[in-house]
Amino acid sequence: MAGNADRPIGVFDSGVGGLTVLDELLARLPSEDFIYFGDTEWFPYGDKSAEDLRARADAIAGWLLAQDVKMIVVACNTATAAALAHLQTHLDVPVIGVMTAESHAAVQSSRTRRIGLLATEATVASGSYQRMIAAHDAGAEVTAVACPRLAPAIQSGDPFDESVVDMVREYTQPLRDADVDTVILGCTHYPMVAKLIRRQVPDATLISSGEEIAREIADTLGRQGMLRDGGREGHYAFACSGDPDAFGTLGTRFMQMPFGDVQHVDPGVGPAT
Ligand code: DGL
Repeated sequence: MAGNADRPIGVFDSGVGGLTVLDELLARLPSEDFIYFGDTEWFPYGDKSAEDLRARADAIAGWLLAQDVKMIVVACNTATAAALAHLQTHLDVPVIGVMTAESHAAVQSSRTRRIGLLATEATVASGSYQRMIAAHDAGAEVTAVACPRLAPAIQSGDPFDESVVDMVREYTQPLRDADVDTVILGCTHYPMVAKLIRRQVPDATLISSGEEIAREIADTLGRQGMLRDGGREGHYAFACSGDPDAFGTLGTRFMQMPFGDVQHVDPGVGPAT
């Protein structure tokens, strides 16, 4: 077993969305090794029950731990809402999710205290963002919009055509109506359509998970003495539960980096507790 700091960091999402987080992590922590798991067989998470997502997250975490990871990053808002607390309670390695850092950043950035949220149905229904924003500013008004078709449109790999523009226009209408000045991209897939979103809410500040969580992870590793020594270039590797070739092709397009061989892994379903 490698020394604590020299072990890789595990990252997972339902598909390619978490790559927007990995992208920031690779830039901020270039010496670290990463193992990314895309749960493409189970995609989308947005319409799954919290209980099913917890069971699946258990199984994925089990596989990542078998790869000897020193930390698990839940690079998916839906899985964070459903399973982060559960994973943190049961696992010995640090487990970091999205949401907390963006909620704080949104409150810091909003002058009008009117904050918009775009996320999956499950994330909006969980009320997690609303609670976290209230913890930072009980007087902030949150306009939350569930966007059930948006992550599937991105994950499909089809070119972004007028139908996606219409979809974004429709989902951002409540944000324009509420005159928000800050918008949380509350699904890790959404930064991939940030240009389309920005056009619909041109005056708002967009907050996304990647940058915020990368900062939090670098801090956590630093404080715990678990940062790998600099001066080396880290490795990254990919696995997914669906078709590895399709995942590699789509992922390379979004990341603009070579993916190497994507491993096929069926993590199964962990015990729902
Ligand atoms: N990327 C995931 C998230 O951040 C969601 C997409 C999905 O599986 O529905 O919520």
